[in-house]
Amino acid sequence: MEHKSREIKQMFDDIAHRYDLLNRLLSFRTDVRWRKKAIKLVGIQSGQTVLDLACGTADMMIEMDNRVGGVNLIGGDFSYNMLKLGYDKFQDGSFSVSDAHMLPFKSNSFDRMTISFGFRNVTDKPTGLKEMHRVLKPGGKLCILEFSQPEGFIFSRLYRLYFTKILPFIGGIISGNREAYDYLPDSVYKFPKKEVYRQMVLEAGFETIDFNPMTFGICDATICCKSNG
Ligand SMILES: C[S@@+](CC[C@H](N)C(=O)[O-])C[C@H]1O[C@@H](n2cnc3c(N)ncnc32)[C@H](O)[C@@H]1O
Repeated sequence: MEHKSREIKQMFDDIAHRYDLLNRLLSFRTDVRWRKKAIKLVGIQSGQTVLDLACGTADMMIEMDNRVGGVNLIGGDFSYNMLKLGYDKFQDGSFSVSDAHMLPFKSNSFDRMTISFGFRNVTDKPTGLKEMHRVLKPGGKLCILEFSQPEGFIFSRLYRLYFTKILPFIGGIISGNREAYDYLPDSVYKFPKKEVYRQMVLEAGFETIDFNPMTFGICDATICCKSNG
């Protein structure tokens, strides 16, 4: 594993015990609404086999199970501590220690795939996307739920103030790891711009990509489809 990726894994191992609390607190529970919308957009149905990559503490898997039911759910993450908390919360799925750069699954395995608030942490994004494309079945869909940069002069400034100053301050105090909560806005502002992102997804082999901005563009549920052929 590459150095930067190892650091990110260590960071999530370190903050795992406070992750859920801070998630709810710092997003004012909006993350729950974003997850629901993402699940609806990617079109998960009973009987499907779904991989939730970078599953963390399994919130997305729990939401899928509550909303749809009868889904064969697999959670993959490279942080053992996050996975362990996920397993403690949700026993109706299976969990696999998985690095997005080299997924331990056969090609054409999954009907649907989600990655929520995980993709920006994947250090080699083109490789990660190629792996996601490989393990999806033909006609399968991937939803990348990720923070984005809001538009609008006043809102984007207010948001930047909250995201780069207030959030790291509170996150640092509660988790005891200020660096992790400085890294969060940093990774969002360094995320590839829309056109580069679109190109990256198409070059990984996906046939289509659709952006679905939410809450003034703070978050986006990007749907990527693998062709049937
Ligand atoms: C911000 S958390 C999101 C967790 C969960 N998906 C959620 O929505 O709450 C990011 C997760 O991505 C995982 N992650 C980061 N890079 C990864 C990689 N290269 N492969 C697998 N998991 C990764 C981290 O371990 C962490 O659990």
